[in-house]
Amino acid sequence: MSKHILITGASRGIGLETTKFLVNKDCTVTAIARSEDKLDQLRAYAPEQIFTLVLDITDADSADAIQNHLEDHQLSIDGFIHNAGLLINKPFLEQTNNDWEKQLAVNLMAPIMLTKKLIHNFNKDSHIVNIGSMGGFQGSEKFPGLSAYSTSKGALAILTECLALELSEYGIKANCLCLGAVQTEMLETAFPGIDAPVNPVEMGRFVGDFTLNGGTFMNGKILPVSLHNPE
Ligand SMILES: NC(=O)c1ccc[n+]([C@@H]2O[C@H](COP(=O)([O-])OP(=O)(O)OC[C@H]3O[C@@H](n4cnc5c(N)ncnc54)[C@H](OP(=O)(O)O)[C@@H]3O)[C@@H](O)[C@H]2O)c1
Repeated sequence: MSKHILITGASRGIGLETTKFLVNKDCTVTAIARSEDKLDQLRAYAPEQIFTLVLDITDADSADAIQNHLEDHQLSIDGFIHNAGLLINKPFLEQTNNDWEKQLAVNLMAPIMLTKKLIHNFNKDSHIVNIGSMGGFQGSEKFPGLSAYSTSKGALAILTECLALELSEYGIKANCLCLGAVQTEMLETAFPGIDAPVNPVEMGRFVGDFTLNGGTFMNGKILPVSLHNPE
């Protein structure tokens, strides 16, 4: 039977390409982001297999909206890719409390809140894939300006280990992929002119395949997905 995957941050970059990969693997995908026009374009790629939800995942009622959508279409969750991300690039001493709150709201609190509220919508043998970053991987090279971003991703990684333990009674696996540089809008905004070794299509293929198959072999793992060593 076709698997149903939920993915946040599907309007561009890695999330967009992961969605296309999953559709080509016969999955049904619910693609979530705030940009309605971009989600409409994505839906046109495979209207029979892609549902779109225009949502800000930091809104308090976003879980209810997803739950209503699942009920309306009689869908349950085989995979949940927490991919939506925000990157604030600012020196630590200039960051405001509001910067930290915004950073943590998207990258950490939303995955926490959505996972918790949708727990009864997951199927047995489902897989949560948290999209972390090499910046949030212990011992990796750190970059100035990314303290809030990297901290949010480091916390997401540790959360993954905790979820693997506590959600095992629901038959849910959880893993965190700590990505290295991928040529997307986020990377280009943070590091203008950067030339990343991986493009979003390639990373989308990896993330999609890992979501479908990685939970069979791994649980509670924080995995560096990077061509360089140690970063
Ligand atoms: N690119 C890299 O080099 C790299 C490296 C390591 C980790 N990552 C991680 O990989 C993930 C994808 O990154 P990317 O490079 O593809 O980024 P991107 O091109 O900036 O895309 C980010 C996605 O997140 C969505 N989003 C942001 N805030 C949202 C919110 N409040 N509610 C709903 N959706 C929201 C955006 O859609 P809307 O604006 O339409 O809402 C967009 O679809 C992120 O978690 C990022 O931290 C990326």
